[in-house]
Amino acid sequence: MKLRKVMIIGVGNVGATTAYTLINRGICEEIALVDINKELVYGQQQDLLDAAAYRPNMIKVTLREAIDCADIDIAILAVTSGIAKKSRAEELTGTSKIISSIIPGMMANGFNGIFLIATNPCDAITYQVWKLSGLPRQRVIGTGVWLDTVRLRRLLGQQMDIGPQSIDAFVVGEHGDSQFPVWSHSSVYGIHLNQLVKNRVDFAKIGSQARHMGFEIADRKHCTEYGIGSTITEICQQILTNSHRALALSCILDGEYGYHDVAIGVPAILDQNGVKKIIQLDFAPNEKQLFENSVDIVKGYIKQIQW
Ligand SMILES: NC(=O)c1ccc[n+]([C@@H]2O[C@H](COP(=O)([O-])OP(=O)(O)OC[C@H]3O[C@@H](n4cnc5c(N)ncnc54)[C@H](O)[C@@H]3O)[C@@H](O)[C@H]2O)c1
Repeated sequence: MKLRKVMIIGVGNVGATTAYTLINRGICEEIALVDINKELVYGQQQDLLDAAAYRPNMIKVTLREAIDCADIDIAILAVTSGIAKKSRAEELTGTSKIISSIIPGMMANGFNGIFLIATNPCDAITYQVWKLSGLPRQRVIGTGVWLDTVRLRRLLGQQMDIGPQSIDAFVVGEHGDSQFPVWSHSSVYGIHLNQLVKNRVDFAKIGSQARHMGFEIADRKHCTEYGIGSTITEICQQILTNSHRALALSCILDGEYGYHDVAIGVPAILDQNGVKKIIQLDFAPNEKQLFENSVDIVKGYIKQIQW
């Protein structure tokens, strides 16, 4: 049997919580930790090994350099030089420099897995990793709007008193201010949300709450970690189990929705090789415009990447 190996590059709040969540789901046999802060990464390793000792299966938590990656199935990027305060784009200069210092070395040392990007601004950094790695677009994925989608579903669920997993509503576009929920395709078992709640729910307000939830949390605890840790783990699980489930993720478009050469949040089917297929939605006219605006914004960030 082939052992499943996940590397986490950057083990601060997001990286460490992801490692903890991966351990508790028991979906891989090795978690390789990478960080420039050697004291922190050692501390995280020992703490995580204590947690792994409770698992019925053997999970190794190892310390590696990013270039020691030839046997890694999924490499998660959770690095930053400083968390954004108002807009994720604030991180672009710092994070794109870090990404440029990491990816070429990994590729030169035989990385042949899937990159999963949480680092912000997520869509622009996903694009940068794709370009620097030269990997097929299927194997470079950003967490994108999946966390925003989960937030939307749980906020709707709270209002409607329905479990979030039963609500087929989702967000597309940038993991940032220009994202939007696709209300035209939102339902519970085929019943449109409007029809189900008969004006009892303020959808615009819920969309806005979901969009701002990251800062709502970070303003109070100076980071977000549990939601994104679960999001990254959920995506890893779909890949490692070849689930063919569709999530809304940052994907490189090559003609889908009429765009090329950009990473943006769209629904996509995941299998063991990454993105198997991007689902093309038939947007309502106003949604088409919102999507176009979001693509333009991400393209603007891409121009500012520090290569
Ligand atoms: N996509 C999402 O939905 C989402 C949600 C939350 C956070 N984030 C993003 O995740 C990133 C990490 O956030 P955090 O709260 O964990 O930050 P953090 O500061 O706690 O952790 C970042 C880690 O990166 C390490 N690092 C910096 N440069 C490095 C390098 N060259 N090589 C290896 N490690 C390096 C740091 O030492 C630190 O431990 C940020 O960009 C943040 O905006 C994304």
